Parts: sequence; structure tokens; C-alpha cells
Amino acid sequence: MLVSMKDMLQHALKNGYAVGQFNINNLEWVGAVLSTAQQCRSPVILGVSGGTVKHMLGLKCIHDIVVNAIDYLHIDIPVALHLDHGTTQEACEAAIAAGFSSIMFDGSHLPFRENLTITRHLVALAHSKGISVQAELGTIAGSEDGIVNSEVIYADPEECYTLVTETQVDCLAAALGSTHGLYKGKARLGFTEMKAIAERVKVPLVLHGGTGVSDDDMRLAVTEGINKVNVGTEMNVQWVDRCKSTFEKGKVNDSVRKFLIPANQAVTAVLMEKMALFK
Ligand code: 13P
Repeated sequence: MLVSMKDMLQHALKNGYAVGQFNINNLEWVGAVLSTAQQCRSPVILGVSGGTVKHMLGLKCIHDIVVNAIDYLHIDIPVALHLDHGTTQEACEAAIAAGFSSIMFDGSHLPFRENLTITRHLVALAHSKGISVQAELGTIAGSEDGIVNSEVIYADPEECYTLVTETQVDCLAAALGSTHGLYKGKARLGFTEMKAIAERVKVPLVLHGGTGVSDDDMRLAVTEGINKVNVGTEMNVQWVDRCKSTFEKGKVNDSVRKFLIPANQAVTAVLMEKMALFK
């Protein structure tokens, strides 16, 4: 059964750890994420971007695949199916209608009041169905699924406070220097601002762009108020890399499964490492 992120993130907030959101791309990754989370006895969030919605044949198809995979694999840890970066009200409403247990409304590109108004509307709708909502403020640099931002803009602490108190959103992605994709050099996170915002808003904070953050910085982020970390690119890099080497060595009449299983194992290794790091 799918659950919302609310209880898992509140538990993480009270006990000082973070839950991983791992972005899925295909059926292979659904299996890898669920099986690894079960093995680590860790709650988990499956992140679904707009690109994955198209690739995996729509929201309903993804929902049904995940629900059936949970059943088939006898998964009994808490699993949330979460729309990542829903940039319009309609995209978020469609995910709610398809049975997702969590959504992110990313109105960070909108004027503040517009972001707040749509977030508040979506929170009311989602909460009436037991679904959690994540909001975003500030700008995360880098590129994800065609959404490109060249500059980092830190979230404003007062706007964070107003957004959280006026919308009752479950968690907040306050941009504080993280970047989607591979970092050029060391990621520079605003830990002082992170701590101040966490103390002010008192809801779990979300770190986007989990790829390329050093282990030490990640531990510090979790200490300073991050209770959810999104990871995508790092799994992508390992999966593609392993596919390249197995495809090179294989024969054309080998089963396609033979090529994909080692790549799935490479993703599993990343997941294990991250789940241990997020505690
Ligand atoms: P990375 O791809 O940089 O790990 O970021 C993923 C992410 O933040 C998804 O929202």
C-alpha cells in the first residue's frame, strides 16, 4: 500500500535522519528501489518527474506498476509515490487523480503570492485525500528533464515562514545552493541559512540535487534540518556506465535481461550507500 510522506518525514524530523527520494525512470528502477528499501528496512519515496511520466506511459500506468510491484515483492516498509516538480496546478491534480500518495508543487518560477495561492489550493485538495504536498522556494540551479536554471537563488526565510504557515504544506524545498545533475566542483550548501529556516518553519526541509554532495556535507545537512534528500543523476550515471560495459561484452542474441540485471545491481549499490548515509 502507498502512504503519504507526512508520517515518514515527521518521524525523520523527530529522530534526526532523512528519507531518500529516488527518482525512477523505468520498471527496472522501480524493482531496484523497492527491493533495496525493503532490504534496508528503510521508508522510501519514489520520485516521478514529468519526463518519466511520458516515458512510463502516464501517471495511471506508473501508479499501477508501483502498487503491483509492492504486492509482488511483498514490500511492507512505508512507500510514497511522489510527483517530482509538478510545475502546474493541473499536473499536480492529475497525479492526485491517478492515485499518487504525494505531490510536489514547484511554483518557484512564479511570483511568491501566486506560488502560495496554488500551493494552498493543492494542500487543501491533497490533504482531504490523505496525500502529502511539498512546496519549493528559491532557485535550484542545473538541469533536470529539460528544466534548466543557470543561477542559484537562495530561498528567503520570511517567504518560507509565510508559505508554510499559510498553506500548511508538509515539507519545503528551500533552495540553498544545491544543483540538479552533476556538480561542477564541490557543491556549496548554505548550512547557516538551512539551520535558520528549519528552526523558523518547523517542517521537514528537502534537499534537491542529492548527487555530488559530499558525505560530510550530507551528514551536516541532515543535522541542520534536512529530512528528505532527492537523488537521481547518481543512479543514472552508474546504470548507464554498467550498461555500456555489459552491452559491449554481450552478444546480440543474449537476453536483454542479462544486460540489464548488472546495471540494476549498480543502482542498488548507490541506493544502499545513500540509505546508510541518510541514516
Ligand atoms: P540529482 O539528479 O542531482 O541527484 O537531483 C535529483 C533531484 O533533485 C530530483 O528532484
